[in-house]
Amino acid sequence: MAIRTIRIMGDSVLTKKCREVEEMTPKLQQLIDDMLETMYDACGVGLAAPQVGILKRIVVIDVDDNPYVLINPVILETSGSQTGSEGCLSLPGKSGIVTRPNYVKVEAYDRNMKKYVLEGTELLARCICHECEHLDGIMYVEHVEGELQDVTYDDDEE
Ligand code: NI
Repeated sequence: MAIRTIRIMGDSVLTKKCREVEEMTPKLQQLIDDMLETMYDACGVGLAAPQVGILKRIVVIDVDDNPYVLINPVILETSGSQTGSEGCLSLPGKSGIVTRPNYVKVEAYDRNMKKYVLEGTELLARCICHECEHLDGIMYVEHVEGELQDVTYDDDEE
């Protein structure tokens, strides 16, 4: 496994539409391992392949010590709404207020290309929406209500 360089907003790779994964390969397994390691290293809760420069429809998410790999994810259903602070590893040190569905049902393939359905509420729902949008070249800043804020880190939490 290796930590990959996270692309920062302004990099054109973050504005492109990603291609579907048609078959799993050892190279993609390596990419998934690297994405998980890169996400944990950066203390993030989600990462999409374009954030490491790969234009494929692959997302990793871990909001509660349950890592999920979503390949070719399709959001089937959403309901409710939540308004809260959101950030992105491609825009370090910033956050903004974004309204998202409070419930999301998504269909995806796992790393063995087995189809499954994942349902999430609250942070998981927010994260699924945020990461899936990366696959279509959309950054959360497009949804921010008001101004982006500077994130101040609490040393006790480092
Ligand atoms: Ni992001």
